[in-house]
Amino acid sequence: MISFDEKNAIFTLTGKGTTYAMGVVDGVLEHRYFGAPIHAGDDLSLFRGEAAGSFEARIPGTVSQNQISAEAPAYGRGDYREPMLVFRGEEGETTVDLRYVGYRIVRDHKLAGLPTSFGGETLAVTLSDPVRGVSVELFYTVFDDAPAVARSARIKNTGKGKLKILRAYSAALDLPGNGYDLITLYGAWVRERMPERTPVRHGVISVDSKRVSSSATENPFAAVVERTATENAGRAYGLALVYSSSWKISVEGAQNGSTRLLGGISDFAFSKTLSPGETFDTPEAVFAFSPDGLGGLSRAFHDYAREHLMNPAFVKRPRPIVVNNWEATYFDFDYERLYPIIDAAEGTGIDTFVLDDGWFGARNNDSAGLGDWTVNRSKLPEGLTPLIERCHARGLKFGLWFEPEMVNPDSDLYRAHPDWAISCPGYEPLLSRRQLVLDITRPEVRDYIVSAVNRVLSENAIDYVKWDSNRNVTELFSSAAAENDRECFAHAYALGLYDLFERIVFANPGVFFEGCSGGGARFDFGMLYYFPQIWTSDDTDAGMRCLIQYGTSYVYPPSAMSCHVAACPNHQNGRTTPFFTRCAVAHLGATGFELDLSKLPDEERNAIREQNELFRRDEDLILSGDLYRVADPFSGNLFGFLIVSKDRSKATLTLVKLLAETNAEHLFPRLPGLDPAASYFIEESGATFHGDTLAEVGLPFDCRKLGDFTAAVFHLRRV
Ligand code: DGJ
Repeated sequence: MISFDEKNAIFTLTGKGTTYAMGVVDGVLEHRYFGAPIHAGDDLSLFRGEAAGSFEARIPGTVSQNQISAEAPAYGRGDYREPMLVFRGEEGETTVDLRYVGYRIVRDHKLAGLPTSFGGETLAVTLSDPVRGVSVELFYTVFDDAPAVARSARIKNTGKGKLKILRAYSAALDLPGNGYDLITLYGAWVRERMPERTPVRHGVISVDSKRVSSSATENPFAAVVERTATENAGRAYGLALVYSSSWKISVEGAQNGSTRLLGGISDFAFSKTLSPGETFDTPEAVFAFSPDGLGGLSRAFHDYAREHLMNPAFVKRPRPIVVNNWEATYFDFDYERLYPIIDAAEGTGIDTFVLDDGWFGARNNDSAGLGDWTVNRSKLPEGLTPLIERCHARGLKFGLWFEPEMVNPDSDLYRAHPDWAISCPGYEPLLSRRQLVLDITRPEVRDYIVSAVNRVLSENAIDYVKWDSNRNVTELFSSAAAENDRECFAHAYALGLYDLFERIVFANPGVFFEGCSGGGARFDFGMLYYFPQIWTSDDTDAGMRCLIQYGTSYVYPPSAMSCHVAACPNHQNGRTTPFFTRCAVAHLGATGFELDLSKLPDEERNAIREQNELFRRDEDLILSGDLYRVADPFSGNLFGFLIVSKDRSKATLTLVKLLAETNAEHLFPRLPGLDPAASYFIEESGATFHGDTLAEVGLPFDCRKLGDFTAAVFHLRRV
């Protein structure tokens, strides 16, 4: 709900579990409050952001902006903290002074060419600086079923000359006090999204990506939590970007005793020029809040994503259980090699076979073929049809891998259009995985990709697509960029990418699309708007997956994580883990298999059916349940996820003892989130306990004699 108190000039936005309040003072739109719900009627104008005892008192006409919390802090009028917006006029002027003009309430708010949260109520507040010739419309979308606020900004050149945008972050938020910790997710290929916690101090700490991708290196997310906050207690504020290209998030402990959290499109090597009358939309930044620690913050993000970001046609529907041939065959396959995998899937509960990289062009290894989206006839002389028919005869659907943004120099596409690959004049373009990136900022390149991919989809019965992207962009430049767009290639790439998704992913509503990027290197809310799930990591080892899925869950719901059971010894790290553990860990997301089913020992092959039935029985928990991280594998020897149904009638607890210990203590992981007054029957042990006992005493788990990477799964039913 959005209300405006005219007398005190206070906007109050009330969503489930949050209030966000702003006031207009001396024409400046100032932040007042973001946090747990408070009464809308109280006079928040008393809670100004001025530092007590400051010699820079708030006197109109003096340098005072460093003491206040502007909703859209810009540079030049005395706020020396990190600004959200930086502009430059034609003569090099950088001074900007944005003043309140008015507001409107918007229904079905949508940003031009960008993924946008839906299903909320949007307040649009206009600020303007007639001297600089710029207006900024700030959007705030609140939701009645998720403790989150989605923010973005629309910048308009209202002057007579050109206006350069040097920084256009999506939002800034000032929090009271300095006593916070910052939590971010760093990583690399095969170890994405590792949590990192550090005290917020005076000065600026930032995380970013300059890779024209959200990246595995840092995820476009930051949590600022009270220093004493834990997994289950303490105030926690989070920011996640609905964006998939280069980005930056900063946190600044400021001199006036507040903490500023802000971010959006990376301003590194970025500028965007607006001609008079032109506008520019920033992507959304989603702020979430919880009084219940990091776990509560994650649940806030999960609820937001499932209700207001992810495609409603798929988000809560049972997911395909796939078998993917990548780790089974890599590039080395033909019909005879693939049929046994398809045949072995029959009757196991696996319902989709996905043919990965290598089916097209002259693709026999990673050196050729990308860009040529026609079947590799030397491997598959009769095309895809025999495989599709084989799948259908075995009761399976058929899925196919694409990497639409890329091209190998050894490809017909490159030979015909060498200029379509991104390169910078004078430099030989660098290869990565022996491929180049197509310049999808160019409409003709996008038209080619759309027609090539859509042709394969329309000519074949394809139910599932895995959209991969295996390298980052270097030599950022587009020879075709309009003059005003020459310095914002990374953002133009994002707009091109989202255009491709609109015209391929959304244009094929009957096809299920999975996102992927050399594992989980593009796992962000921008992607989740289009792809109901994303391949979480190329690391398929269950032990590493405990860590990766733990970190990923800080922001992204279990159903967003594609998780496969793979063969042992694991192809990435050589580790051998029990089959049951691999299934238990893969069941914590959208499950599937990534191995040669026909070569599995009988015992494991027979177990697949039972495992898939177990998964399906409680899949609703993965699709819509509340996740409680009950044991942290980064700080102890145990991993634990408890997923509780929204009505608290059932839950599944998955524990993985990481390394065997001798003479170790008996463990009692505590289980929050259940109905304290209700009794729960635990299927595996036959015991019944009340929710409060399980929350306070914990569930007895005798793991003293368990070997390395042993999992236990407990199903709890309310009785
Ligand atoms: C990277 C992906 O993450 C893998 O699953 C696989 O699809 C390969 N690319 C294929 O090249």
